[in-house]
Amino acid sequence: MNNYFIGIMSGTSCDGIDITMCKINDKKIDFIDGNFAPFSDKMRNNLLKLSNSIDDNIEMLIKSDESLADFIVKKINKILLENKILPCEITAIGSHGHTVRHINSDDINYSLQISNHAKIAKQTGIDVVCDFRRGDIACGGTGAPLVPVFHQAIAQSYEPTVVVNIGGIANITILPAIDDNNSDIIGFDTGVGGALIDVWSELHLKSRFDDKGSFARSGNCDYELLKSMLSDDYFKIKPPKSTGRELFNLRWLQKKIAKQKPCDVACTLCNFTATSIIDDIKKYASNTKKIIICGGGLKNDYLMELLSSLAQPTPVLSINDIGYKSDYVEAMAFAYLAYLHINKKPANITTGGTKTTLGALYPK
Ligand SMILES: Nc1ncnc2c1ncn2[C@@H]1O[C@H](COP(=O)(O)OP(=O)(O)O)[C@@H](O)[C@H]1O
Ligand SMILES: [Mg+2]
Repeated sequence: MNNYFIGIMSGTSCDGIDITMCKINDKKIDFIDGNFAPFSDKMRNNLLKLSNSIDDNIEMLIKSDESLADFIVKKINKILLENKILPCEITAIGSHGHTVRHINSDDINYSLQISNHAKIAKQTGIDVVCDFRRGDIACGGTGAPLVPVFHQAIAQSYEPTVVVNIGGIANITILPAIDDNNSDIIGFDTGVGGALIDVWSELHLKSRFDDKGSFARSGNCDYELLKSMLSDDYFKIKPPKSTGRELFNLRWLQKKIAKQKPCDVACTLCNFTATSIIDDIKKYASNTKKIIICGGGLKNDYLMELLSSLAQPTPVLSINDIGYKSDYVEAMAFAYLAYLHINKKPANITTGGTKTTLGALYPK
């Protein structure tokens, strides 16, 4: 066995798929290669519509399930070819799929990811492990985040550490020092990452995101608006908890804003993301010695400056500083979840669910 695994992530920001190839054993997780494949406008718009409960459409769901699988198969074949690795050398693909619905409430919990995984397995000739979130929910968990087990594997040290993943939604993993036997690892979604900044940029800049946060930087934070954003009930719920676009979407934002200038709303949204993250770190990880950031949010310079300033005196680092490529951390996490599935190890360490092996396997 070569212990090669492929990880595929299609995140809440709906920007495209991240694909990685890794070599994983019980001692090491080595990155071999990674790519990002952006969605066409058509695919992105369809996926965004599907995650909006007002636009329920089964026909579109099935078509997107198929086209996303076709898109993923092409990208897997490309990475295999470029690295001169044969399908039979890959132990398994860990594929997240694209979330079209994720609800985590008192009454009901469910999470659905699409991208026809049977087709991916048959067309690549590689076993596919998928459907990780539903297994966790079936065991009483919140279904997200699932990356803490990977953050533990790559970032736990002799110092208390927090890993923050800023994608469309933001999540944190609070890692006690390795020799601290009295504290548990905590992981949960802190709230919105870039999803609302993206929605606002699309409306006002006709761009999928606010490049480097320059639009936000050109405005002023409206502290009344920020206070109203932070008063959402989500921030009162104790972890474990998870959220998604079902809550933090344009309708949510439009209910909050009045007549502010667009650049001031952009600035406030950046402050909202940064404040909600740092508030939770101060609340649940007050002894942390360092904060490590990964995910696309790292490319928003203004957001990073806000995080550093709010976290003072705790240093804020990039995951690149500890030797991992920030863009591929989540896809690597799904390669690792496939590795855990194959080795029958538990994966849901922070969601509140009974700890269990996650995922379903579609054979090649
Ligand atoms: N050049 C950039 N400037 C500012 N923000 C960026 C840039 N590139 C990506 N982003 C942000 O990164 C996010 C996507 O990060 P990613 O980790 O892929 O999240 P997801 O897993 O939800 O897709 C987007 O929400 C976007 O706001
Ligand atoms: Mg992404």
